[in-house]
Amino acid sequence: MTAFAIGFFPVAAVAASLEMMTTGGCSCCHAWARHLRAAGHEVAVKDLAMGQLMKMKLDAGIPAAMTACHTARVDGYLIEGHVPEQDIRKLLTERPEALGLVVPGMPIGSPGMEFGNKREAYEVLLLKKDGSTEVFARYGSQPE
Ligand code: CU
Ligand code: CU
Repeated sequence: MTAFAIGFFPVAAVAASLEMMTTGGCSCCHAWARHLRAAGHEVAVKDLAMGQLMKMKLDAGIPAAMTACHTARVDGYLIEGHVPEQDIRKLLTERPEALGLVVPGMPIGSPGMEFGNKREAYEVLLLKKDGSTEVFARYGSQPE
């Protein structure tokens, strides 16, 4: 009972307001935005040209090898790629010293990249200001 109250409510109370930068026709970005909205977050969408979007990512400190399709800003953090909303809530609750969270590439089965019930294993990385990363969350493959 107590564990439920402490473990659940403070995290669930974080409803974020994000700005997602994407390129016009990219449907997986909009699928990711729907995943966030379904969890109660607000997502404003800003369409950029591909070159502009890539320049913004690199200028913001996201290593080229870690880029995905969309980049979002929330509360002083960057969210790159198909990061699950529960990890964004955890980030905003714990507020670590970091640039933000990254899911490099576009793993099948991450939010917005649904493909039946298939999921390839992937990690959500915490990107530090010095460019180093640590694993923030891990998702296993499904079906196993
Ligand atoms: Cu994508
Ligand atoms: Cu996309």
